[in-house]
Parts: sequence; structure tokens; C-alpha cells
Amino acid sequence: MSVPGTRLHVVSGKGGTGKTTVAAALALALAERGRRTLLVEVEGRQGIAQLFETEALPYAERRIAIGPGGGEVYALVVDAEQALLDYLQMFYKLGGAGRALRRIGAIDFATTVAPGLRDVLLTGKVCEAVRRRGQGGTGRAYDAVVMDAPPTGRIARFLGVNHEVAGLARVGPIHHQAQAVMRVLKSAETAVHLVTLLEEMPVQETADAVAELRAADLPAGAVVVNMARPAGDVAVPVPDHDPGLAAALTRAGLRGAGRLAGPLLTEGREHTQRLALERAQRAELAGLGLPVHELPLLTEGADLAGLYRLARLLRDLDWTGGAR
Ligand SMILES: Nc1ncnc2c1ncn2[C@@H]1O[C@H](COP(=O)(O)OP(=O)(O)OP(=O)(O)O)[C@@H](O)[C@H]1O
Ligand SMILES: [Mg+2]
Repeated sequence: MSVPGTRLHVVSGKGGTGKTTVAAALALALAERGRRTLLVEVEGRQGIAQLFETEALPYAERRIAIGPGGGEVYALVVDAEQALLDYLQMFYKLGGAGRALRRIGAIDFATTVAPGLRDVLLTGKVCEAVRRRGQGGTGRAYDAVVMDAPPTGRIARFLGVNHEVAGLARVGPIHHQAQAVMRVLKSAETAVHLVTLLEEMPVQETADAVAELRAADLPAGAVVVNMARPAGDVAVPVPDHDPGLAAALTRAGLRGAGRLAGPLLTEGREHTQRLALERAQRAELAGLGLPVHELPLLTEGADLAGLYRLARLLRDLDWTGGAR
């Protein structure tokens, strides 16, 4: 897979469409021979640990898998409180004083009272991991970072929060830091991918998110249609009654064929309707001007074996992102 330029892959989408699954599969896919990727979770739900069947992950970068391409995947669960302590240490060298602040509950207070601050800390930590490469300095460097991000309804706000901060703090280290984060997020190094199902609601949310990202000058990447059935299925008109069907079923030796024909026709009609709806949703997505990739519904469930299957499918696709 060629990924010239893109180093931060942000994976959003409507709730439950498969953001965590797709983010994990993409991190695996990007782990080519000798390459190292970081999979980051920002909503503290331990979805990555569940997916990789490991115990709860700490606020530390841990190797969790080897990609099908032979590279390494690390995982990080970003915790806003810990990230705030990191910041205080970085800017004010607080050290032990930071820990004291935590003991008296000040850190918890700060991150709970100001939800925007949480987002500043979470995006800041992710961008710090992205920027590590090329700094020739501290910490493990990654070829790519994949973020399991908040859902479509919140994504533009979440990624844009540092823009507001840079405006509030007009000078000083916080202004500088907020600007550095926005530089990464708006650059060609970042692509925001949107996971959807071929259903009306998630497709509408995808279209809305693309519009919001573009309005905020944030780089939309690819649309991932998850749990898709093959587009090749041909919809044929199914009649309400078909006396020939019962006869054929009887000839085929099925007992109770007369009672089977009705329900079978109903199912056929529903299938045809679903295909027509999916065709309409595909057309809607095609109109967004972004690459659209489809991942199949894994009938055996998205377990670890399924995850690797998805990763192999993702490896050969273009993840460089589309036009803004
Ligand atoms: N391609 C697939 N085939 C079959 N099952 C899938 C597929 N992708 C995801 N799933 C399953 O769908 C469910 C939702 O997936 P996932 O947790 O990745 O979604 P999410 O968008 O991260 O959800 P949330 O909004 O709760 O964070 C999970 O049970 C997952 O195993
Ligand atoms: Mg999730």
C-alpha cells in the first residue's frame, strides 16, 4: 500500500458503524514490513483491548499486534487527566507538584468542568505522537498513527478545538502548542476517514460530516462502507403471487412447499427493496468526491481472525485521502 504523505489517519463515523474495528484493521494494514503504527483510542472505552482480546490497556504505548505485512502495531489509550499532567510537566516542569494537584482533585476538576479542555489534551497527545518522527528526539517514532475518533456528530468540533484555543490564548506556550496541533490536523499528513453502513441515517451523517470538515478546512480522507454486501447482487422484480414457485418447490421434494412459497416471496421482495435502497446510498456516497472503499460483513463476526481479514483487504487500497 502506498501512503505517501498521510501519517495521521482519523477514523470517525456514526456510532456503531465500526469505527473501532476499521481503525484497528487500518492500523494493522499500515504495518508493513519493518513499519510501525500506533492505534490510539481517545474515548476511554477500552474498545481496542476488547478487539485484540487483551487486558485493559494503560496510558502507555504497548505493542499489541504484528500486521499482516510484518510490521508492528502499538496501542495507546489517551487519558485526559494523564495528558494534562504531561502538559503541566512539559510547559511548567511541575513534576511532583502535578501529582499533588492530582491528589487534591484539581486535575479531575479541570478536565471534567471544561469538556473542551479534554479535547485539547486528547488531540494534543495524538499530534505529539505524529510529530515525534523527524524530531530525532524522545519517544518511539511511528510511520503512521490511526485514531479511533469520536463519532461524526462531534468530529469537526473535536478536531477544531485547538483553533479556538489558539484564538483565546493569543501568545505564549499554549497558543504555540494549539497552533502546532492545528498545523498537523489541517496538513496533507492528516486524513479523516468516515465509516458508514449502506443505510440512510449513517450515509446522511457522513455527508454532513464531509461538509463540516470542508467548512473547517480539515482534510476528509476516504469513506469506508462497512458490513457491505457485494454490489453485484442484481435486483429482480419479485411478484406477490407465483403459483409456479410452490409447484417447483414440491417437485424439488420439499415438504409443506405450499406454505413456504408465500414467505419466500416476501423475503425476495424485501431483499429487492434493500438492494434498491443500497444502490441509492452508494450513489449518494459517490457524489461526495471522496474515495469509497467497501468492507464485507463478516458473517463469523469481527473477531481477531476477522480483523486480519479486513486488514488484508484494506492494505491494497488508497488511503491518501481525497480532495478537501
Ligand atoms: N465488517 C464487519 N463484519 C461484522 N461485524 C462487524 C464488522 N465491523 C464491525 N462489526 C461489529 O459491529 C459492532 C460495532 O463495531 P465497532 O465497535 O467497531 O463500532 P464503533 O463505531 O466503534 O461503535 P461505537 O460507536 O460504540 O464506538 C461490533 O460488534 C463489531 O464486532
Ligand atoms: Mg468504538
